[in-house]
Amino acid sequence: MDRRTFVRTTAAGVAAAAAPAALAASTHPAAPAVHTRTHRPVLVADVSSIRYRNGGPESAIERAFRGITEGEDVLDACVAGVNIPELDPEERGIGYGGLPNADGVVQLDSCLMHGPRRWAGGVAAIEGVKTPSLVAKAVAELTDHHLIVGQGATEFARALGFEILDDLNTDASRALWLEWKRRVDPSHWLDPEERLKGLGRAGEETDPDVIRRRREEDSARLQAFADAALEAGWSMVADGLIDANSFWGTTSLECVNQDGDLCGVTTTSGLAWKIPGRAGDSPILGAGQYVDNDVGAAGSTGRGEANLYNLSCFMIVEFMRQGMSPKDAGMAVLERIRANTVEARLLNSRGLPNFDVRFFILNKAGEYAGVAMYGAAESTFAVCDENGAREEPLEGLLEGSPRD
Ligand code: GLY
Repeated sequence: MDRRTFVRTTAAGVAAAAAPAALAASTHPAAPAVHTRTHRPVLVADVSSIRYRNGGPESAIERAFRGITEGEDVLDACVAGVNIPELDPEERGIGYGGLPNADGVVQLDSCLMHGPRRWAGGVAAIEGVKTPSLVAKAVAELTDHHLIVGQGATEFARALGFEILDDLNTDASRALWLEWKRRVDPSHWLDPEERLKGLGRAGEETDPDVIRRRREEDSARLQAFADAALEAGWSMVADGLIDANSFWGTTSLECVNQDGDLCGVTTTSGLAWKIPGRAGDSPILGAGQYVDNDVGAAGSTGRGEANLYNLSCFMIVEFMRQGMSPKDAGMAVLERIRANTVEARLLNSRGLPNFDVRFFILNKAGEYAGVAMYGAAESTFAVCDENGAREEPLEGLLEGSPRD
């Protein structure tokens, strides 16, 4: 696809994504038939892919399933699917209305991989664009790069004709950010510069002992802020202001179509109230997303740093290549994350990880699994196949809650 074609189809796609009800009514009047060829089409995803419709008739996973059964390109169908929760202002973990960073700015990450074409694209810390997955797709289709970040990603999107908003917050996401600031630092919560004041004084010194001491002080202050930030976030989960799923909220959708072609797309506002510029696992190939068209696909939600340290999704696909089932591959990687989590601040009172990580996995044969570090009774993931869209229980490596 050349640039002109992409801009034309993307503009149409963005316009359509902004009005999914109209799109469904005008272009897809009839229920699709499932054309089973050599493979069985199956999609797996996180729960926001089935719980949010942005006022339209379909969730992300339903839209994607319809697209692939109607013969749409496997990745185009999945991206059109995740555009629905990206545009939904009620969805707090991705796109428009996603929870912002520590400075109140919504910064988004996305990555996608096209199995048969064997390419991928990503954006990190992009601002102002409601649908970062479409920008990630443009990176893959129009450039020789994989990942464009920050202001460069926003300008890349602007050049392609994407609408750039000054602020992706909704009133609700902004109010939650202010509440978080109040909980982190009741004395300075309206002064965004305050927490950085006095940092970096080591750079003015020549005495190595003073430099070392000031660096240690800076490091302790930043760590204390990070700990207070996380605790404030968890207190908001405990008080029912946000759900735990929005904390590292992410939408990740994996698909195998009727030809056995695979793809995956992941999109997120990342860790709520992260340090500005922080990129999580979602835009990084192999960490929050990986696809191999000969083997399978894996995507993730949850603590991104755990997936970055362990290159989790790549490892899951490699374990499946060696013959493991989707469930066993996912469990093996969760076990590796558990074993590699040794820092005291990441452990709960039982000495286990104090965070959750979830994987949505399928192989080329259409076998699938949803696994999680913690498999509480209410934890589910989304599946869509010839039997329709539904939630199924996640299988947990560990019992109880990460905060026990
Ligand atoms: N898994 C989403 C994030 O950590 O940013």
